[in-house]
Amino acid sequence: MKGIILAGGSGTRLGPSTDGVSKQMLDIYDKPMIYYPLSTLMSAGIRDILVITTEEDQKVFMRQLQDGSKFGIHISYKIQPSPDGLAQAFLLGEDFIGDEPCAMILGDNIFYGTGFYRMLDEASKNAYQGKATIFGNQVKDPERFGIMELDSENNVIGVEEKPEFPKSNYAIVGLYFYPAGVSKLAKRVEPSARGELEITTLNDFYLQQGLLKAELLESGFAWFDAGTHDSKLDAANMIRTIQNRTGQVVCCPEVVAYDKGWLTQGELEERAKVYSKNNYGKYLKSILKEK
Ligand code: G1P
Repeated sequence: MKGIILAGGSGTRLGPSTDGVSKQMLDIYDKPMIYYPLSTLMSAGIRDILVITTEEDQKVFMRQLQDGSKFGIHISYKIQPSPDGLAQAFLLGEDFIGDEPCAMILGDNIFYGTGFYRMLDEASKNAYQGKATIFGNQVKDPERFGIMELDSENNVIGVEEKPEFPKSNYAIVGLYFYPAGVSKLAKRVEPSARGELEITTLNDFYLQQGLLKAELLESGFAWFDAGTHDSKLDAANMIRTIQNRTGQVVCCPEVVAYDKGWLTQGELEERAKVYSKNNYGKYLKSILKEK
């Protein structure tokens, strides 16, 4: 299974903070925003990840994440020349994906809540069985999102991009799992009225074939798209509260890797030394002591 983090875009809603740096490199409390989607893909067992960025931002992502070996994974990079829609990720990632299933996550999407690992596992199994999985979260402003319509047994019966009159209040969040062959199908997506290759059109192709599954994030589950100053601060406050109460660091890629056996004890020790003067390093050290 491959994974893509889509971290392009100009982040205009976060200006002027994004005039000199990419949105996904801004911090959410104690770590860069991109660590959150990165940890999500890693938690799904994905070790081969493509980071898609604008040309001018690529260098800074490479400097931060390098080749991924510090997290026991492999990271490669691809430039998105212009932001032409989420489904474009599968065209840009065609060679990288090859003939494997592939998950895609938006670089500003943060997930925290119970049952998430089970859902990731389910989505991954679906992908290996030829089915796509989307995730739904109830929101108060569904017209701002892709929306899923569900039947009484929570099967998806419709998907729509930013409808004027939404048929449900389940937003489709920025995390998608697809079976092998997704790039081929993505080539059939035509630009929408707003000129974008919509992920919703791609999801509709799977739906029409009876191959689209949905997982619903439970009420109380926290999903943030940290693309505005307010949602970014809300996310940071939530992460800070959870971390200070539990003593755990949320979405720490080093610890995800260590738990999965992708980093050895010695490697984690090295990582802890890099940050020995701050709480992140102390946390890594505490994990070593714990186990
Ligand atoms: C995109 C997708 C939409 C999805 C949303 C999640 O919207 O098009 O279907 O619900 O991400 O964040 P956009 O960010 O383009 O407004």
